Amino acid sequence: MNNLPPFTLEQYLLQHEHKAELSLCSSGLDSLTLRELLAFGDSETLTLWEKQTLGYSDPQGAPRLRDEIGRLYASLPARSLGLFSGAAEAIFCGLSALLTPQDHAIIITPCYQSLKSVPASICGITEIPLQMREQTWELDIRSIEQAIQPHTRVLVMNFPNNPTGALPSDTLRQALIALARAHDLYIFSDEVYRGLELADTPQWPPMVDAYEKGISVGSLSKLFAMPGVRCGWLACRDQSILEKAVGFKHYTTICNNGPGEILALMALRAHAEIIPRNRSVLAPRFVLMHQFLERHPAVFDWVAPQGGCLVFPRLILQGDSSGIAERFALDLLAAEKVLVLAGQLYDFPGEFLRLSYASKTLPQALERLERFIRQHHKSVFQNASQPPPSVL
Ligand SMILES: Cc1ncc(COP(=O)(O)O)c(C=O)c1O
Repeated sequence: MNNLPPFTLEQYLLQHEHKAELSLCSSGLDSLTLRELLAFGDSETLTLWEKQTLGYSDPQGAPRLRDEIGRLYASLPARSLGLFSGAAEAIFCGLSALLTPQDHAIIITPCYQSLKSVPASICGITEIPLQMREQTWELDIRSIEQAIQPHTRVLVMNFPNNPTGALPSDTLRQALIALARAHDLYIFSDEVYRGLELADTPQWPPMVDAYEKGISVGSLSKLFAMPGVRCGWLACRDQSILEKAVGFKHYTTICNNGPGEILALMALRAHAEIIPRNRSVLAPRFVLMHQFLERHPAVFDWVAPQGGCLVFPRLILQGDSSGIAERFALDLLAAEKVLVLAGQLYDFPGEFLRLSYASKTLPQALERLERFIRQHHKSVFQNASQPPPSVL
């Protein structure tokens, strides 16, 4: 754990976000306001909110909130849930509880950085990269099978995937579970974008329901658009792992923030209103992004996402192009004050950009990107052979 590298993407945001007027890479929808959320409160939650004391709370999470989160899963008892300060803390504590230096972990990449960095700080890892194909991001299950070692303990995945939006077919999902079962592996599944699958795409079933050694990571940050409440969780049927993970909180946050737990309860009880609202906001924005990328086939090669709010197009280039995505991102920021992220921030080879269709300012941001491409496309691409400036 002492070997954790810097969180590259967060560092980049710290260094560059303030220069942007518009973000075209946000990992979630524009957040709910406190006023909007309180309007969803029922008499019980509004009373709880007013009477909430500001003391320490149950380290595993308020029992009534765990009951409510449990309803998102098929017959999951509240004791199989541990609440954390966002999925970020759940990932850190969960993987730290699961792994020892003698273990080995297989990570499907690209992914949210901590899903790879936390295991890599503890034990040996093997990355299995998704491959961009004509219509889809392909996951080669044979490579996963070949990567399994005697000490492999866990297969780590994140679907719908950040940043590609990829979602394996049901057949592939079941094959992954069968493979894990045959080798007695845990599956650690980051499902923070579950529920934000695009229309006509079936919802990703929680791994904790589908597989006895499945551990699901959830959060209110994306589906409910309330990352500031910092409500995330681990759903895990193995009590000893869950207890160990919650035990790490004694070193991190001790407990969740009590007022935030009431707000989380309010949101979950209003899920029938909040989730369709968020999904319906996202759908037309995806169409805008789709039309934009289709208008620029000479610039972007891309695969349509199946869930989440991100897309990961590849810049089409000639000759030596290494580092061009970083240059593109920095030049776009300087010229148009629009923030996008280069795929290198995911430590993923190739010239990819992370774009998001989550924000209400998407039309303006795309207009500026369009202008940038028209004005700078040639010079940006001619500079391809020059070394890129350092991104950090
Ligand atoms: C895939 C993924 N997992 C986890 C997180 C962390 O989420 P939270 O805000 O719940 O800590 C993020 C944030 O962007 C994410 O994209």
